Amino acid sequence: MRIIRTKNYDDMSKKAADLIAAVVLLKPNCVLGLATGSSPIGTYNNLVQKYEEGNLDFSTVRSVNLDEYKGLPRTNDQSYYYFMHKNLFSRVNINLDNTHLPNGMEPDSDKACKEYDAVIKSMGGVDMQLLGLGHDGHIGFNEPNNEFDKTTHCVNLTQMTIEANKRFFASIDDVPRQAYTMGVGTIMDAKMVIMVVSGKDKAEILKKAFFGPVTPEVPASILQFHPNFVLVADEDALSLVK
Ligand code: GLP
Repeated sequence: MRIIRTKNYDDMSKKAADLIAAVVLLKPNCVLGLATGSSPIGTYNNLVQKYEEGNLDFSTVRSVNLDEYKGLPRTNDQSYYYFMHKNLFSRVNINLDNTHLPNGMEPDSDKACKEYDAVIKSMGGVDMQLLGLGHDGHIGFNEPNNEFDKTTHCVNLTQMTIEANKRFFASIDDVPRQAYTMGVGTIMDAKMVIMVVSGKDKAEILKKAFFGPVTPEVPASILQFHPNFVLVADEDALSLVK
């Protein structure tokens, strides 16, 4: 595990985008594993800037996203499909046919998950997986559990995650209770994993995940075993780490 300590959110976003840009430069048809949430928004803004300056070409890049709420249509502004289009896809020259998210509108969980795993497999796996960190240690929507789920599956969101994500919805009742998420096994199979973490509110879980025992109770902790894991975190998030 390598840690890149940054001054603040902007610095974190710039450095994470530099790392992702390097992946794209080295392999123009790479498979980027993408994430949602507030943490990667600045990273996407920096990638867009590199594209606008003519320094980054997404024309042959392929992408798979970590997760999607079950039951939210793509047109809902809280769906992850909507998020990705708003924050990245519509702002760079990526071919939309090469972008993939789990199908949140497929009511048959088994079917949705199997189809998504087949897509990831057909692409040859993930070259670089970008992650944020949930307050309970979740990655994607892999919530604390008594085992690590390997492949795409349907999850019941924890109360903590529903609470954390309610800020984006009109009311807590509007937050979906379930989501489809890529499994921890697929995340661990990515050739490189970059996690962006910012803010004092993440300091405690960051310490627990990366300086405590590896346990499915803290799903992110398994990344301690990933051979090419880069944690890009700001001083506030690293404030409890010596
Ligand atoms: C959601 C997403 C995760 C994300 C997490 C943290 O639950 N499914 O992928 O990492 O939120 O979000 P934030 O970066 O806004 O703290």
